[in-house]
Amino acid sequence: MIIEPRMRGFICLTAHPKGCEQNVKNQIEYIKSKGAIEGAKKVLVIGASTGFGLASRITSAFGSGAATIGVFFEKPPLEGKTASPGWYNSAAFENEAHKAGLYAKSINGDAFSNEVKQQTLDLIKKDLGQVDLVIYSLASPVRLHPVTGVLHRSVLKPIGSTFTNKTVDFHSGKVSEVSIEPCSGDDIENTIAVMGGEDWAMWIDALKAENLLAPGATTVAYSYIGPSLTEAVYRKGTIGRAKDHLEATAFTITDSLEDINGKAYVSVNKALVTQASSAIPVIPLYISLLYKIMKEEGIHEGCIEQIQRLYQQRLYTGSDVPTDEKGRIRIDDWEMRADVQEKVAKLWEQAVTENLEEIGDLEGYRKDFYNLFGFDFEGVDYKADTNEMVNVSSIA
Ligand SMILES: NC(=O)c1ccc[n+]([C@@H]2O[C@H](COP(=O)([O-])OP(=O)(O)OC[C@H]3O[C@@H](n4cnc5c(N)ncnc54)[C@H](O)[C@@H]3O)[C@@H](O)[C@H]2O)c1
Repeated sequence: MIIEPRMRGFICLTAHPKGCEQNVKNQIEYIKSKGAIEGAKKVLVIGASTGFGLASRITSAFGSGAATIGVFFEKPPLEGKTASPGWYNSAAFENEAHKAGLYAKSINGDAFSNEVKQQTLDLIKKDLGQVDLVIYSLASPVRLHPVTGVLHRSVLKPIGSTFTNKTVDFHSGKVSEVSIEPCSGDDIENTIAVMGGEDWAMWIDALKAENLLAPGATTVAYSYIGPSLTEAVYRKGTIGRAKDHLEATAFTITDSLEDINGKAYVSVNKALVTQASSAIPVIPLYISLLYKIMKEEGIHEGCIEQIQRLYQQRLYTGSDVPTDEKGRIRIDDWEMRADVQEKVAKLWEQAVTENLEEIGDLEGYRKDFYNLFGFDFEGVDYKADTNEMVNVSSIA
């Protein structure tokens, strides 16, 4: 079929298999161009199919020659209906890994469930024995709690009072004012249940209980802080409470791994265009201004550049992992540079519909958004008849 982007609001309903393949190949090429990293050799990535998790899987495999098991929750294709992008990304990743002689298997299902955890433990036991790195990179709006059976929904809302600020519809470029009502009821607890650290700890406990963590094993989860501009809706909002919980969980996990000399870290990453971040009001305007400044300064990074730097310059330097005063690894350091933030804040004051194309990087934002779904890549013939029925080889 001829596959074109079909947008509905902040999501795209279609994905292009060849474009997703190109995306994965580009990331692999980038990692190879940066040279070998003395990193972990047996790696489990939870949330491995898109964004930071996919970049982590690629960096482990093609930077360190690691065997990888990837867990994700993606929609396979149906005749005439494309798969979700993470499905096509994972198909392409496995193909490239296998061509390079690397072990790569994937599990598609709900990582919050006991069943998927058990399936993953069984696979590690059978094929790898133990893992020495566990990346936890889930981003989900819901979690069915495996013990209580409660379905928790996360919300992206301020706490205490209504937050009003500018936002942009990145499709039309229209800048407008948006008001977000504060959270209510159990919103904070629910958001912590979905995006906090409980499930991360459950994974690590389950792996350790079956002796599947190698001595000295490391686990890393991803967080975000961001500037004062977005604070009310992000870091001081409901999602920020979940990130506080995730960051606190790193310490309890580290304590629980003391006997095997293991360590849990949270890495604070930079703001990037993903399906989740596009849906948060205010954030797309911030990102389009941030991209403009960071590109001008020559310090712009995507997921793959971020994770390459995380591995090579933070996790696997051969000496202690550098952290901030709260024990977090910081690869949002360039985003948070005072000069970058001052410039973004100035542009924020000026931004209106009429000047945003010029003072912001709306074009870069849109391109990144299309890229998430495998569109707008050089070297892909989007007019060609394309087979949507692609298998992930280890799942097929
Ligand atoms: N995007 C940003 O700007 C940004 C910045 C800093 C930190 N982070 C954090 O990085 C982490 C990953 O975010 P991302 O932006 O890469 O997200 P993403 O949406 O690109 O990736 C999410 C991954 O989780 C998987 N997933 C979701 N629900 C699942 C489930 N129930 N079971 C199994 N797999 C499931 C998806 O299949 C996918 O592989 C999150 O913790 C996020 O908060 C994101």
